[in-house]
Amino acid sequence: MTATADPVQLMKQEVGKAAANLVKSGSIVGLGTGSTTAFTIQFLGDRLKSGELTDIVGIPTSFQSEVLAKQYGVPLTTLDAIDHIDIAIDGADEVDPNKNLIKGGGAAHTREKVVDYLANQFIVVVDSGKLVKRLGETFAVPVEIIPMAITPAMQAITKLGGKPEIRMGVKKAGPVITDQGNMVVDVRFDNISDPENLEKTLNNIPGVLENGIFVNCVDKVLIGEVKDHKPVVREM
Ligand code: 5RP
Repeated sequence: MTATADPVQLMKQEVGKAAANLVKSGSIVGLGTGSTTAFTIQFLGDRLKSGELTDIVGIPTSFQSEVLAKQYGVPLTTLDAIDHIDIAIDGADEVDPNKNLIKGGGAAHTREKVVDYLANQFIVVVDSGKLVKRLGETFAVPVEIIPMAITPAMQAITKLGGKPEIRMGVKKAGPVITDQGNMVVDVRFDNISDPENLEKTLNNIPGVLENGIFVNCVDKVLIGEVKDHKPVVREM
């Protein structure tokens, strides 16, 4: 494990490890996307290598988690080959007091929603900076849209009161293209008072594949914090 002095990285590392420790031998595990679950995948690999954990298979939620699983020696399978997922571990960009989430900071929310919702136990791993009183406080809602529908879908989102912006690539000219070949629009809302309803309304717009609002699906939120200069993990 690479040591890090950055407190946010330390929190992510500790919380990622705590979640990896919840996985039992013989489990089918949903592997989330992002910098926190990257630590989870790494620790799952460590546990497998040490022999403390045996006989697990992972279902990746993105190309990123697939690559990391291969790198750290976590065997993979697909949804076609299994009939359930025991536990999914995933990050989030915002968590409200009802354990509702905004996800999609890594543009992976479509596959994440499929895998996380299928899991018998869905564990969310975040650093304390992700906790909000109300969804939309700090983060825009990512919406994946098929490219031919981008203009009418953005117009429909604007009519709903959102301010959509196409997500642009970093070190790549042009828009972010998802693992499915679509575009992502980040939508600011002044006030998300009813996340459940907004999730459904956005998904009803023709051309929208999925949005990053996750409601009523989380079993446990593990939060990484720094206390007395030390990283600690608590449950929400
Ligand atoms: C990717 C996600 C990530 O889980 C979310 O962005 C959190 O990432 P990180 O752990 O890097 O803060 O939803 O689509």
